[in-house]
Amino acid sequence: MALEINALPLSYVAHALAVAGAVMVLVWNIYFRGGLAWESDNKNLIFNVHPVLMLIGLVIMGGEAIISYKALPFKKAEKKLIHLVLHAIALILGIIGIYMAFKNHNESGLANLYSLHSWLGIGVIVLYGIQWIYGFVVFFYPGGSGDVRRESLPWHVLFGMFVYILAVANSALGFLEKLTFLESSGIDKYGSEAFLVNFTAIVAVLYGTFVLLTALSRAPVEDHESYSPI
Ligand code: HEM
Ligand code: HEM
Repeated sequence: MALEINALPLSYVAHALAVAGAVMVLVWNIYFRGGLAWESDNKNLIFNVHPVLMLIGLVIMGGEAIISYKALPFKKAEKKLIHLVLHAIALILGIIGIYMAFKNHNESGLANLYSLHSWLGIGVIVLYGIQWIYGFVVFFYPGGSGDVRRESLPWHVLFGMFVYILAVANSALGFLEKLTFLESSGIDKYGSEAFLVNFTAIVAVLYGTFVLLTALSRAPVEDHESYSPI
């Protein structure tokens, strides 16, 4: 399935939203929440690494990995390498980001895995890992037979989009949950921080939308021969 629109202009909108989302989550955690730390007596600084890595790592790097087939002016084999490396970086940053949420809970004496966000989060990272390993084995090394590749591709694309939508939706849940905690401990519901957090989540959802639109659109012309539509 491919939409009869050019992917390239859509990918520019996605890149712009990626930059906006990355800046917003950094401003929130560094300026409003006091900064980021691996080790600190202030355990909130350890938590702050979580939203930063989940948004910039899993959601933004993962999104750029998905649109790399449509947004880059390279040969198919080069784009495949970029796709797999960017997804690997997204996965690793996502795992570190989740580790930091656990580290914060453990060092603060808080319970783990009590929320819908955390359960879906474990699902997202496990499915993302499985998707990466299957993609690597079938499409890269050692590589499946022609038949296996052909039959796997539509499932790879469908499952990849499903996992990605789940990741974007779960980050929206994460922003909601954190802001609700902050509001119940006193921050202004209509204050600048609350607006920043809500708008960061909106930018993340818009980014995810443009990633999917780009993936579903027509590849650049020079790529038509080598591109196999879904
Ligand atoms: C797809 C991206 C994300 C995934 C996969 C994810 C995953 C997780 C996981 C597995 C936990 C549980 C940690 C524990 O139990 O010790 C957690 C906790 C948490 N996350 Fe995320 N997260 C994501 C994005 C975000 C974002 C963007 C925010 C925004 C602030 C956020 C806010 C929170 C909060 C407040 C907690 C602690 C409360 C809780 O356990 O629900 N998360 N996350
Ligand atoms: C969690 C990791 C991954 C996700 C979420 C994912 C997702 C996707 C998505 C959504 C597409 C469709 C893109 C489009 O039609 O423009 C795609 C295509 C593809 N992916 Fe992945 N992918 C992942 C990992 C991998 C890995 C490790 C490989 C190994 C090389 C791989 C190989 C491919 C190939 C060959 C295509 C087909 C491109 C084409 O249609 O010509 N993927 N992937």
